[in-house]
Amino acid sequence: MTTRSTRRTFVQTTGVIGAGFRTILKTLAAPAVATFAGVRHVLGADRNEGLENEDVPAAGPMVGQVTSTLAAIWMYTPGGTSMKLTYKPQGAVESSTAKVEPIKTDDLNLRGRAWRALIADLAPNTRYQYEVAIDGKIAPEHHGTFKTAPVEGEPAKFRLGLTSCMKPKHSPDSWLLFAKDEPDLHLTIGDTVYADTTEPRWQWRHHLNYRRIEPFAKVIRTIPTYSMWDDHDYGPNNSDGTERGKHYSLDGWKRVWINPGAGTKDIPGAFYKFTWAQVEFFVVDGRYHRTPNKAKDDEKKTMLGHEQFAWLIEQLKASKAKFKVIVSGSTLDHSQNDGWRLYTHERRRLFDAIKSNKLNGVLYMSGSLHNSLAWEHHESDRVGYPFVEVISSGIANSKTLSYATIDFDTTVSDPALHVRVVAGNGKVREQKTWKLSTLSHG
Ligand SMILES: [Fe+2]
Repeated sequence: MTTRSTRRTFVQTTGVIGAGFRTILKTLAAPAVATFAGVRHVLGADRNEGLENEDVPAAGPMVGQVTSTLAAIWMYTPGGTSMKLTYKPQGAVESSTAKVEPIKTDDLNLRGRAWRALIADLAPNTRYQYEVAIDGKIAPEHHGTFKTAPVEGEPAKFRLGLTSCMKPKHSPDSWLLFAKDEPDLHLTIGDTVYADTTEPRWQWRHHLNYRRIEPFAKVIRTIPTYSMWDDHDYGPNNSDGTERGKHYSLDGWKRVWINPGAGTKDIPGAFYKFTWAQVEFFVVDGRYHRTPNKAKDDEKKTMLGHEQFAWLIEQLKASKAKFKVIVSGSTLDHSQNDGWRLYTHERRRLFDAIKSNKLNGVLYMSGSLHNSLAWEHHESDRVGYPFVEVISSGIANSKTLSYATIDFDTTVSDPALHVRVVAGNGKVREQKTWKLSTLSHG
């Protein structure tokens, strides 16, 4: 894809560059709400942990959506009336200044300010360095780097890092291992905080709190990070589409991350898609429209909501990518009380759609389990080829403190993906490779 069309895609999905910063406020800002009526709080051991300094230190910078030519960076500062972000190719002399705009947070009662910086006209596959100045002062921890994406649609080798489930009271050291593995991009897919409420003021305080933990802070200021929520960052444990105040969660979520989008004009939710070289990711929202786990498992029961499900199939059919990765917090089979094994009708509809539409190179990635592994689903016959699921969960909330990396290589005649599961003790517990020819209909 050309620079111009890549830029257009970014504009369409984020609504931020080109259309001007007024658009950000229109499309991403929450309505001013004085109270958050009807939300459920679940009081637990983690509810208030570490929140006593909620408004004191900065959080971020965090690199969010990155394309081959553009990058977006999020930042929270405890005070200050101006933020400036300068950047340059690593090692270069001349710096440029990014466009910066405040993120509306009036309804969140924060003492500090949140900001979004947008950088355009970058070169593909190139590492940049940046620094953030608040009221003209640069703190040492407000420096970072990021590498832009390869050109969309062209062959490339790259490493995806996959994580989920993190709590401040658990060791953050796996984030150091994760950073050393140097993923080109990072997908963190649920339980990014355990706020256990749809109240965005609490959710934001949990996010700010976790972003101040140095090993995690290092990851997000150097690796483009994309997110999806699961139950604990959407609402209480195992929460679903019936949860009161879910629209507050969604408003807060859109402002605390910089993803390529959230829902469509007609379908609300946190879901979006994006492409990295020749791999397309369909990051679906398994909470906003979900029928309760305990409902009867019949035709009507849905995890994605029928409209988002239709969107997913349509997008998969339209995709030109070599690998098409469906990403969700919910596992296909391993979670006993909170995954697709309780939604077998919809799961079969998904598998059947992959077969009937002859979609090649589709695979699945999830979290939630508090363990990590890669396997082929036992109903792969329905799909027509081995249906691979990579589960990465518990990088900072499990016995294993594990995560996964996935190396994609589309530069070879038979493109491949190589999965590594890494435990908190640094041991690579599992390694598996799949070639596109084996993930294809004959
Ligand atoms: Fe979790």
